[in-house]
Formats: sequence, structure tokens, C-alpha cells
Amino acid sequence: MDGLNEIRRKYLEFFRAQGHEVVPSGPLVPNNDPTLLFTNAGMVPFKNVFTGQETRPYSRAASSQKCVRAGGKHNDLDNVGYTARHHTFFEMLGNFSFGDYYKEEAIKFAWDLITKEFALPESRLMVTIYEDDDEAHGLWKKIAGLEDSRIVRLGAKSNFWQMGDTGPCGPNSEIFYDHGEKIPGGPPGSPDEDGDRFIEIWNLVFMQYEQHEDGSRTRLPKPSIDTGMGLERMAAVMQGTYDNYATDLMRSLIVASAEASKSDPDGSHAVSHRVIADHLRSSSFLIADGVMPSNEGRGYVLRRIMRRAMRHAQLVGVSEPLMWRLVPALVRQMGDAYPELRRAEALVTETLKLEETRFRETLTRGLKLLDEEVEKQQGKGVLPGEVAFKLYDTYGFPLDLTQDALRARGMSVDQTGFDAAMAKQRQDARAAWAGSGEKATEAVWFELREKVGATEFLGYETEVAEGKIVALLVDGAPVDAVEAGTEAAIVTNQTPFYGESGGQIGDTGVIFSADGAEFPVIDTVKKLGDMHVHIGKLSRGRLRLGDIVEMKVDKALRDATRANHSATHLLHEALRRVLGAHVTQKGSMVGPERLRFDFSHPKPMTAEEITEVETIVNGVIRQNVEVSTRLMTPDDAIAAGALALFGEKYGDEVRVLAMGRDEDNANGTYSVELCGGTHVRRVGDIAIFKIVSESAVASGIR
Ligand code: SER
Repeated sequence: MDGLNEIRRKYLEFFRAQGHEVVPSGPLVPNNDPTLLFTNAGMVPFKNVFTGQETRPYSRAASSQKCVRAGGKHNDLDNVGYTARHHTFFEMLGNFSFGDYYKEEAIKFAWDLITKEFALPESRLMVTIYEDDDEAHGLWKKIAGLEDSRIVRLGAKSNFWQMGDTGPCGPNSEIFYDHGEKIPGGPPGSPDEDGDRFIEIWNLVFMQYEQHEDGSRTRLPKPSIDTGMGLERMAAVMQGTYDNYATDLMRSLIVASAEASKSDPDGSHAVSHRVIADHLRSSSFLIADGVMPSNEGRGYVLRRIMRRAMRHAQLVGVSEPLMWRLVPALVRQMGDAYPELRRAEALVTETLKLEETRFRETLTRGLKLLDEEVEKQQGKGVLPGEVAFKLYDTYGFPLDLTQDALRARGMSVDQTGFDAAMAKQRQDARAAWAGSGEKATEAVWFELREKVGATEFLGYETEVAEGKIVALLVDGAPVDAVEAGTEAAIVTNQTPFYGESGGQIGDTGVIFSADGAEFPVIDTVKKLGDMHVHIGKLSRGRLRLGDIVEMKVDKALRDATRANHSATHLLHEALRRVLGAHVTQKGSMVGPERLRFDFSHPKPMTAEEITEVETIVNGVIRQNVEVSTRLMTPDDAIAAGALALFGEKYGDEVRVLAMGRDEDNANGTYSVELCGGTHVRRVGDIAIFKIVSESAVASGIR
């Protein structure tokens, strides 16, 4: 019997042999689509190839794509754990043709793969097609010899696929597997189609159109193919079960959860182990792709998933954080297919541990409050919105966690009351701000921040990304559009541009739009800590609120800045070693050309000291070891030996940068520092370090 890893491999090899380029999975945070929360289908990384905006050196591709569906379109969070096939994270196998082959070959490849390579019995297979797609009907008869009764015509609701509100789309044809009479359920299109008997295993989309925001549809440059096969489902079919959670990979995670909590994987906590197994995958892969738990945007969806799993860990009855202990089991299963998971193992482990430790502190108190409130309702069935809001606000209970906890008692939450309580709190915060006497210009930023939220920073992972314009400002006032020749500030929902902070200057680069606008970014600043503002002058075209733009950081400058920023850390440590532990950072300026580092030291450095510092730093550069980034609480980070800037304010979680090797140091690392900046991948990328001048900048500061 093939395991899931083997099925994935066979799929990709089959298409490689048919001239397809096997492409690694794209990231879960789609840097080519600011309107999508997470990558939710195999075609997402290829979106611009279908529409002709981007070209690749191949016209056929196959991949196994990491997908998350939780929040936004295709949201499965609430059902996960209770059903046989819902997941927040899943893998989608797919083959793609970008204007190369079309319907006939796509159907032929699919039929050959499942009936020959995967050896599924033909008698168990049936298909659906879009209602007026006679061509597909004819092809299924010709290629697979299917009888008419096994080719079901259905309407757009089930047989017209689109990625989201916009993007490539087209009619599709789905292949179904019949698990047999012993499982309840009917064929597609029948009243009981939602049962577990007839399961869609593969979706072949005949891509023909691009859907636009204004509702119009245009033809793609060439008809194309996008197929998607849920790996977990296919594994279930091939392993003789209808339950994805009974397949080898999911089962191994369920068993790991049961063992770590010393409980029965199939006993009264079976649902909890399923939730934990599923959420472990989505949480770990999201963290590995740069998402961190937070109270906004993608980070908040991650936090909701993590906390839902952590609540189930508590239901199982473990008294210590559980999730982080399951990471090795996950890496064993999936680290070969997704090396990024292995690389991020330490970060994933710490992030899970930290979140669960913190959440546990409030979970018990919050649940007690919930119990008391439920008692007060005396069987009314609905929890008041203010109570759910208090749980959210004071105890960090995402709304769906409260709903999940109530579900077991047959109760729900008054959502309108919850929303009203949330709106009231926003208003109060705004009123408090208005009274604080801040300058009017800053009030503009505060209002904007309230309206558009934090900017998602993608720049740790990428230098190119799409963003959606959420605010445009001219002379400090919000506008709806900007014309060529105008100086403006642009805020987008996500950006690869680093906003000036921590001594590192803001990124420069260009913002383009598909209809020809060009906005050279001369600086990027951060407002209110997490809103990135791109500053420049529109040189061509017109930009409007809501436009989707392509954002490109000047890579050469960014790389040079990275090198200087990482060198700053190496320098800081070398100065402490050569001059003494009294050396502390007093400021810094890191740009592409050079770095400047201000530190406390009572007298000029001697020529020997300067040489010694240079020698140490260049020695570490030559080690060329990988730079590691981890996430911790400020206290843990400092306990682990991280250098922190005195008086600097840090958030709940800090990034901890470790560079270079030093066997004599307790932690084996040369330098450990708290830092939100962008850094080199390996210290060797710095290349060389040279001090060109040393002087006093103030009394006792060099
Ligand atoms: N895009 C289609 C889907 O997600 C086929 O890959 O089902």
C-alpha cells in the first residue's frame, strides 16, 4: 500500500515523464495576489502565467502545492475535526498547461494516471461536467468509454471554477470515486450527494476566462488547463478508507498527539486529536512561511487556528503545552517534501510553545467565566455578544473558539451584539486618542490605521510582491486617485518594502500597475509601528484606491543594506569582546553604502583595537554559517543571551537573530540580538568588513 509521500512522488513523476516541469510549492502567503488571504489552490502561484502577465520557460507544469483554507472564501475551520474530509491545511497535486494542451490531453492524462498508475477500478469512477460542455462529454466517452449515466451534467455552482472574486476561471469536470454501498451518500447532483460515498477526487478546470473586479470577464490569451487533486483524499481512496484522517500521514500525527498526551487516539478525545493533527500542519507551515501569530490579518487567522488546537489539547487533559512536542513527528513526515519546514523547525517549535504557554494562563480563567455565563442564561441557547467580546478582549478567545466551546452545549453566540461591542471599543479608543493632544497630521495616520489595519510585511521572504492600494495621500490628505507628476504616499495591504526602523533605512524601488502607472519609491517609512508608507512621485499613468500593483524593491540596494545590517551585529559583539562589556549600542544607521554604529566608550579606540575588531568580524564572515531567526518573548530572548537596546520598546514577541559560531560561548553562537531588520542568509554574504573612521559623536559616545 502506498503511503502519502509515495503517492505524491508518483503523481509528479508521471507528469514529469509527460514533459511537465515539476515546480516546488509556492508560499502560503501569496506574494502574487494581495486579495487572497492564503494560497488556496495549486494554480495560485501560476495565476499571472494563465493571464499572460508573466511568462515562464515552460508551458507545462506539475506541483504539489501547500494550501490553507481558513477564513475568506473556502473557509473550513469550524468543521475541521468533526468530518472525514475537512482540513485547514492540505496538499493539492496539480498539472497545468499554459496555452499548451487542452481538454483532450488533460482528460487522457487524468484517466491514465488514476486507472493505470494508481490502478483504481474503472467501475468505481464517474465524472461531472459543466451543463453545456458537449465537448467534454464526447471526450469522456471516447477516452474512458464512460456510459452516459456516469457523466453527470451540472450547473455553474458546482462545475464552473473560480479562484476567488477575481482571477482565471472556467468550466470544469470533476472525477468522483464511489466508496461503495456500505457508506451512505448519493452520486453528484443527487439530494444526498454530501454523504461520504461519492467523493470528488480530481478537478480538471478548462481555464478560458479572467474574472475582473467590475464583474466583467475577458478571454485568456489561450485556453489552458488547471487541475487539482486533494492528496489526502486520493491517499484515502488508495488506502481503502473514506476518512482522510485514517491515512498513514494523518494517522501518524494523531498517534503522536495521543502518545504525547497519554490518551487513546480513538477514544472519547478522538475529535480533539484530529483537530490537533490538522491544525499542527497549518500552523507549522504558516509559521515556516513567515506568518506570526498576531491580532490582525493573516497573523490573526493563524492565532485562531493555533488557539483552537490548544483548547482541544486542554480538553484532552494535558497540563503542559502540547503542540510544540509534535513538531518532530510532522517534520519526519513532511520535511523531505517541504525542506522549508525542516529549516524553520526551531522557529515553529518556539512559536507554538510560546503561544500555548501564554494562552494557557488565560484559558482556564476564560472558560470559568464562560461556564458562569452559560449558567446565567439558563438554557436560553444564545450567549450575549458582550460576553463573547469580553472573552475575546480580555482572555484572547477568538470568536470561533467561544463558538466551538458552546457547540458542545448546543449554544451559539449573538454575533450582532459581539460586533457592536467591538465597534464601541474602537470608538472609545479613537476618542481617547483625540484627547491626547497629538498633532493633527498624526491623527490622519491614526484614522487610516484604524481603517486599513497593519501592513503585512512580506520582505523577510521576498523582494517582489503584489499589493492592493488601501490609501493614497497627497500633502497629508487622503485622496481617491493620483495623477502623473504628483508627489504622494501610498499604503498597500501588503508590501515587500521595509519601512525605516531600528536604524535601517527604508527601502526604495518601484510600484507599477498593469495599466502603465509607475511610481518610483524614494523612501518607505513606518507609521504607528506597523503601517508601511511608500513615498515618491508618480512618474507615469494614474493610480487609484483599490488598484492591484506590482511592488519591486531595489534588490541590489536591499542586498547591500542587508549585508551592512548583519555586519552591525557582528561589529557590536566584536567591540564588546575587544573593549569590554560596557560597550552598548547608542544608535545606528544602516544603509546600502555603509553602516554607522554609535556606542558607549570613554576614549578613542587605538589602531590595534580597530584592527582586532576587523579581524574578529572578518573571521566570523568567513565561517559562512547560516543566519538563524527565531521568535521569543523579550525575557526569554534576553535570558538566551540576546543583546537588547536599552530603553527600546519591544512587543510581545521579538525576532531573535543569531549569527556565527563560537564554541566557547554557552549557546554555541557568536552573536545573538533582538532585531526586526532584514538580514543576509549566510554571514559570508557580507563578504568583507572594514572600519573607515572612528570618532566621538558626544561625550562618552563613539
Ligand atoms: N483550481 C482548481 C481547484 O482548486 C483545480 O486545481 O479545485
